[in-house]
Amino acid sequence: MKDIENPTRRGFLTTVSAVLAIEAIPVLAQPASERPKEGDLLVSIESESTNVLEPRDIPLGGPPLLAWPMDAADKTVRKDSRLNKILLLRLDLSTLVGATKDRAAEGVVAYSAICPHAGCEVNVWAAEQQTLECSCHYSHYNPREGASVIDGPAPRALAALPLKIVDGKLAVAKPFTGRVGIVPS
Ligand code: FES
Repeated sequence: MKDIENPTRRGFLTTVSAVLAIEAIPVLAQPASERPKEGDLLVSIESESTNVLEPRDIPLGGPPLLAWPMDAADKTVRKDSRLNKILLLRLDLSTLVGATKDRAAEGVVAYSAICPHAGCEVNVWAAEQQTLECSCHYSHYNPREGASVIDGPAPRALAALPLKIVDGKLAVAKPFTGRVGIVPS
């Protein structure tokens, strides 16, 4: 088993649990559990405040910062669903490939933090390799190329969340590019 405490890697979550990522679909979706919408702003998961994130709040070159989407109008933070956890990474724009460059805002890319293999949280930043990893079964993702799967059992890339800049703040440009979490067979 790999050692996630390896100094070349930086875990950015302290707990990992193999929790199913399939949530019951509410009859009436509540704003706090709805998926991110165009125009939503982003706030840090670590902070109790609802300070809206800007590109400079995200460390250049990693590690990722975890965020929730927030309704820009009524300030509802959409944190009632773990499927709304978002990984934000700020990377050199010139190193982003294809659609990833179009989805980025000032080099910041956003992905679902939920691994599509079995629903764990993607919780490791391998600084040397510049890859995202899920320590449950070691799927590796390339954040510069749509979080495509480099290695491991994940069946598909992490869902991407296209971003834009509104008044200097990071904002959601479009919904997730694909389904978040496990796709039932
Ligand atoms: S849940 Fe992430 S690799 Fe299995």
